[in-house]
Amino acid sequence: SKKITIAIDGHSSTGKSTVAKQLAKELGYIYVDSGAMYRAVTLYAMRKLFVSDTNFDKESIIRHLPFINVKFIFDDELGYGEIYLNDENVEKEIRLLEVSQQVSKVAAIPQVRKKLVKLQQEMGKDKGVVMDGRDIGTVVFPDADLKLFMTASTERRAQRRYKELKERGDEITLDEVLTNVKERDHMDTTRDDSPLLKADDAIEIDNSLLDLEEQYEKVLKLAKDKI
Ligand code: C5P
Repeated sequence: SKKITIAIDGHSSTGKSTVAKQLAKELGYIYVDSGAMYRAVTLYAMRKLFVSDTNFDKESIIRHLPFINVKFIFDDELGYGEIYLNDENVEKEIRLLEVSQQVSKVAAIPQVRKKLVKLQQEMGKDKGVVMDGRDIGTVVFPDADLKLFMTASTERRAQRRYKELKERGDEITLDEVLTNVKERDHMDTTRDDSPLLKADDAIEIDNSLLDLEEQYEKVLKLAKDKI
């Protein structure tokens, strides 16, 4: 059977990464969480350039880009790669709400996107990849063999993310998470460079209507039909 490229895009917390990871494992493909790369750059900007709600210097972020090294290191036990920022595993830290609150500003900078898209395209050059994000089917792999666009209601997505963060012990409220989900949706869909949008040839999957298992079965079948 041939190796294909699978692009999964959609709003935040639609369960993209859960599906993408399962699918990659089942097919023996590489899984790439492109959002983790934007989050890692954002973490650098928060630590080194003090990016916050009140401080955002786009030019300094651009100047630092050559010193921001992001990569995935494959973990045998997990079956996928974890994200490293300049040789430090930042997989946990990038998921903090504080990072989610800054990431869409950083991800709107064209130079940041250019750098990360190039890395993403390199990781997918041999096919056999499942990548999730916002612009994978539109910009990173416009020729992907299978494109999925995942959606769910804002409330459902906020609840999902809230539950995840709570389980990890974060001190947050559902309202804070809901606000963040809405703000990111807005910024991600209205930015000039590579806004989140459904590719013409993407298959839309609304997971308000399906449970995780049904959703996965549907996606797996779509993938197998292409292979
Ligand atoms: O997927 P995740 O929610 O972790 O992504 C975090 C943020 O990174 C998104 O809200 C978006 O601003 C940005 N992103 C992006 N393009 C991608 C993946 C993520 O702009 N391909």
